[in-house]
Amino acid sequence: MRTSLLARALLLPFCLAADTLIPSTVFDTTATLEQYFTYNYPWGGDTHNGGARMDKAHVSIASAGTLTITAQHVTGQPPATHGGNQIAINYLSGAIGAKQHFTVPKGGGLIFSGSFQATTTKGTWPAFWLTAVNGWPPEVDMAEWKGSGKISFNTFNTSSVLSWKDVAYSNPGTFHDIKCQVRDLNGQDVQVKYWLNGVEVTTHYGKDYTGKPLYLIINLQMEGSSGSPGPTTNTTYSVKNLLVTTL
Ligand SMILES: *[C@@H]1O[C@H](CO)[C@@H](O)[C@H](O)[C@H]1NC(C)=O
Ligand SMILES: *[C@@H]1O[C@H](CO)[C@@H](O)[C@H](O)[C@H]1NC(C)=O
Repeated sequence: MRTSLLARALLLPFCLAADTLIPSTVFDTTATLEQYFTYNYPWGGDTHNGGARMDKAHVSIASAGTLTITAQHVTGQPPATHGGNQIAINYLSGAIGAKQHFTVPKGGGLIFSGSFQATTTKGTWPAFWLTAVNGWPPEVDMAEWKGSGKISFNTFNTSSVLSWKDVAYSNPGTFHDIKCQVRDLNGQDVQVKYWLNGVEVTTHYGKDYTGKPLYLIINLQMEGSSGSPGPTTNTTYSVKNLLVTTL
């Protein structure tokens, strides 16, 4: 009893020492959004691996506390080039990337959480993900919806070994809570745990992720991995209560 009280007294200061890296007030105003995020992809560029071209006009604070990205069907856009291939651009949409890079330190970890309203219809590809600043992987898809009625959680253990978990996703019109914890396992590799609506879904591992800086991206890509054609009406993707802390 005495030992456990002593242990708790010693551990308590460390438990309280979690740092907030992005506060849950981040989407209160456009000014707070722009304090923590830039528009488009954080490595530069307005297109990536799907049929949307990103711009600032399709990202808004729809109401205080809620980020909303709208994908709008368009014609006449020049194609994107990705991996040596041309991709038809059929949408204008939005992406934001965190200004800071996130690094899992030896012996530590990071927690990313938020509440998401995302579509699961064909041709819509909303995502909440981490990817390597230098080289690739790391990549952790903390949540992505690939137009199949499901939500997917993926970790690239290595560039050739992907761990993935697809889960049935009901009521896409409402907000769902996502949490992802990435923690150092052995000074080199990380353990990645995923929660959906407070229920732990799966655990993956990332090889050699510790100490490597990561980009955080929230984007509404279209078509690509989610199939085509996508919708001709507007698609929205909303996020609130985003929070990033250390473990
Ligand atoms: C992934 O990486 C970890 C850490 O290196 C390793 O233990 C595990 O076997 C790897 N493979 C899979 C499929 O998770
Ligand atoms: C679709 O979204 C665009 C960009 O936000 C907006 O200008 C347009 O009015 C929207 N259209 C409809 C029908 O809501």
